[in-house]
Amino acid sequence: TPTFRIAAIPGDGIGKEVMPEGLRVLHAAAKRFGLALDVREIPWASCDWHAQHGQMMPDDWKEQLSGVDAIFFGAVGWPATVPDHVSLWGSLLKFRRQFDQYINLRPVRLFEGVPCPLAGRKPGDIDYLVVRENTEGEYTALGGVMYEGTDREIVIQESVFSRHGADRVLRFAFEAARSRPRKHLTLATKSNGIAISMPWWDGRADAVGRDFPDVSLDKQHIDILSARFVLQPQRFDVVVASNLFGDILSDLGPATTGTIGLAPSANLNPERKFPSLFEPVHGSAPDIYGKNIANPIAMIWSGALMLDFLTEGQGAGRAAHDAIVKAIETVLAQGPRTPDLGGNASTTALGQAIAGLVEAG
Ligand code: NAD
Ligand code: IPM
Ligand code: MN
Repeated sequence: TPTFRIAAIPGDGIGKEVMPEGLRVLHAAAKRFGLALDVREIPWASCDWHAQHGQMMPDDWKEQLSGVDAIFFGAVGWPATVPDHVSLWGSLLKFRRQFDQYINLRPVRLFEGVPCPLAGRKPGDIDYLVVRENTEGEYTALGGVMYEGTDREIVIQESVFSRHGADRVLRFAFEAARSRPRKHLTLATKSNGIAISMPWWDGRADAVGRDFPDVSLDKQHIDILSARFVLQPQRFDVVVASNLFGDILSDLGPATTGTIGLAPSANLNPERKFPSLFEPVHGSAPDIYGKNIANPIAMIWSGALMLDFLTEGQGAGRAAHDAIVKAIETVLAQGPRTPDLGGNASTTALGQAIAGLVEAG
């Protein structure tokens, strides 16, 4: 079997606390299922590399990552010392773009035993996949401030969508919907107000959808779609969205399942030309850092997605993924729990409990 080379970047804040638990569980799964992992930890973060060198990563970061199969990423951001746009554009957003990780997969699921903030919902009512466009859209550095400092100050920031970029994420989302029992795809749109790019997105979805007559397509404006995430979550199966809409939906969705501390993500370059990146949806949470109370499940679940992707969903990798998800299910049903889910267990205790279950089988 091949050795998978993994770059582990804990980052800032609770990234440093959840990463050890993510790695603990990965190593437990690797041991049980006979996977070979070669993990290298890299201190590229606001509070490490940036504090010493004035930038988030060394200039030759790409060369340093050559030969790496995947990046396991905690979270970066320490706004007390480095402005957020500097730390994020110097790190995570660079990886997404330079490694063409154009798919951001963010599963949302209500687990057995987790109190749901929505009244009357049970597991199964919330179980959908957000497919977020991850390289273009509303996230650009295109624009500027004019007449700066005067009372006529103007700021412009462009959004950029390409046919190549939209079609490839739409195709991926249609394929994902096709592979699921309900075969239903929701497109997040806003073609009433954002009257150039969003009608265009609707048209691209219709065009790509011609190859998927077996998948039902529902276009919803982002405002009412957000309301339905709360009021009618059972309507959703796969949801495809532009970069910003997908970002917002992928915090809202997990919030309806009890905590954002569970939500994993897979930033994929499906062609495997570049390494893909696996990380929690959440950030560095400076407000709880240093207490060892962050929920490590998002990090641990992201590790499971990584093993599945590295092995193309086959054999030992799929088995390891399934064992980790099963251990997460068990811990969520029986405890221990971190404070975000009403418990008083530590980050470390959760990692140990999940790793123990994975190892024991
Ligand atoms: P955040 O996700 O870090 O925190 C939001 C809230 O959720 C906080 O109250 C936090 O305590 C709580 N929370 C987050 N993760 C949790 C966990 N695992 N367990 C328990 N509670 C958890 O979002 P924010 O406050 O907007 O951002 C803080 C910093 O993180 C900023 O610098 C931001 O730019 C950065 N950020 C980074 C990433 C990333 O690297 N992927 C993602 C989001 C935010
Ligand atoms: C996420 C994060 C990032 C994003 C930020 C930190 C730039 O919120 O991964 O969801 O907006 O993509
Ligand atoms: Mn986000």
